[in-house]
Amino acid sequence: MRRELRKVTGVEQVGPYTLLRVDAGGLDAGVPGQFFMLEARGRPLPRPMSVCLAAAGELAFLIDPIGPGTRALCSAERGEELHVLGPLGNGFELEVERPLLVGGGIGIAPLPFLSHRLGRAPAILGFRTDWHAEAAALVPNAEVCVEPVYVTELLPDNAGDVLACGPEPMLAALREQLPNAQLAWEAPMACGFGACYGCAVEIDGELKRLCVEGPVLRAA
Ligand SMILES: Cc1cc2nc3c(=O)[nH]c(=O)nc-3n(C[C@H](O)[C@H](O)[C@H](O)COP(=O)(O)OP(=O)(O)OC[C@H]3O[C@@H](n4cnc5c(N)ncnc54)[C@H](O)[C@@H]3O)c2cc1C
Ligand code: FES
Repeated sequence: MRRELRKVTGVEQVGPYTLLRVDAGGLDAGVPGQFFMLEARGRPLPRPMSVCLAAAGELAFLIDPIGPGTRALCSAERGEELHVLGPLGNGFELEVERPLLVGGGIGIAPLPFLSHRLGRAPAILGFRTDWHAEAAALVPNAEVCVEPVYVTELLPDNAGDVLACGPEPMLAALREQLPNAQLAWEAPMACGFGACYGCAVEIDGELKRLCVEGPVLRAA
């Protein structure tokens, strides 16, 4: 884990989302599903973002501008510098026999990197609208659905090794059906490395810090 001041190398619109590219400098991209804390200029706290793409010398983050922190990150300009800390948390276990990636909405953010590491594994992606579904172009080999159709309706009977990220109801539905699935969960995070307990969630009756134990957890 390192904290570096990195230069923004690109800012692109992908449907309603922003793909923010930064020069990776000395930062290791880590394992898909791990995340970085990104600090926008003028904002008091950093925000957790999954690595979306990790091409040579660059890290890219797909960001949904839902609040002040994410909007500040999306309005960063090429050439501007941001503090970037990571990689953090536990990513996906990549030693799987029959990977199937499942993503919903902005939850597809870690899947392009994951797909790359898993040799373009098949993917099922779900979105609210066709506009949001433009982000599916980032994930190769994907079957895409738009509401009112949900990703769970597209799951094959024998789904194999599911690796998923998406909204809580989607993860809860997958958890019911697939005890062996790897699910990337979210919680508000202030530090990202175990110091503030802001991300504590109850797992098996115990409070655990999602930034340390997760964000990827086995469904069971
Ligand atoms: C490990 C991890 C990886 C993430 N990766 C991405 C990513 O790749 N792309 C992306 O766009 N977003 C990602 N997020 C979510 C992102 O960090 C939050 O949307 C962001 O922190 C919101 O900050 P804000 O200041 O814009 O909005 P805020 O004003 O902080 O929040 C806006 C609304 O969203 C709720 N909220 C904020 N953060 C979370 C959260 N983490 N979980 C559930 N609800 C929340 C708030 O309660 C509030 O209602 C990730 C979160 C985690 C924990
Ligand atoms: S975000 Fe601070 S302990 Fe997890």
